[in-house]
Amino acid sequence: MKIIKVKDYNEVSKKASEFVINQIMNKPNSILGLATGSTPIGLYNYLIKAYQDKTISFNKVITYNLDEYIGIDRNHPQCYYQYMQDHLFSKVDMKQENIHIPNNDPNKLNENANIYNDALKKVSIDLQILGIGSNGHIGFNEPGTPLGNETFIVELDEQTRKDNMRFFSSLDEVPKHAITMGIKNIMKSKFIILMASGKEKAEAIYKMIHGDVTEDLPASVLQLHPNVVVIVDELAGSKL
Ligand code: GLP
Repeated sequence: MKIIKVKDYNEVSKKASEFVINQIMNKPNSILGLATGSTPIGLYNYLIKAYQDKTISFNKVITYNLDEYIGIDRNHPQCYYQYMQDHLFSKVDMKQENIHIPNNDPNKLNENANIYNDALKKVSIDLQILGIGSNGHIGFNEPGTPLGNETFIVELDEQTRKDNMRFFSSLDEVPKHAITMGIKNIMKSKFIILMASGKEKAEAIYKMIHGDVTEDLPASVLQLHPNVVVIVDELAGSKL
């Protein structure tokens, strides 16, 4: 793991964007694995700027998102499908057919998890963006998730629901389930960038890097990946 410690959230976003911009410049038809949550928003803003400056184009880029909530429909502002449209896709020249986000249709959940997993098996993600939950989750692989899991339906951890309550009007409104890439899917990526900002992430970042590789802290599995860059700000990296 390569650790890059920078000053603040803006620097985390900028540094991550340099990797992604280089990736797209070197391979315009790159396959990107994308994350949601508050952390990657600054990165997406830098990517939009690079598109507007004509430094990069997304017209050949293919994307696969990590996860999606279950129980809210695609038009809900917190649905990750909508999030991606709002924060990146509608602002660049992405082709809609190149966008892949797990389908959360409540009537076909297992079927949709299998369809997404089959699609992931056929591709090799060039660059995967990750955030990290305060409990060490990546995607929605909560503590206790078997490290060999492929795309599956997960019951969200109480801590994750509380952390994400800030995006909803009450805890009751936060979905209880999600569909997520498994650790095995994530580990298949050629290159992984994990971004973290803020003191709430400091403990998880410390354990991810210096703790045992354990299901109890899913991000710790990244110690076993040959090509990971961790970009943290001073607060998230304060225990390192
Ligand atoms: C979310 C997402 C993760 C994200 C994490 C941290 O619930 N499923 O992909 O990395 O939790 O979110 P944030 O960046 O808002 O702290």
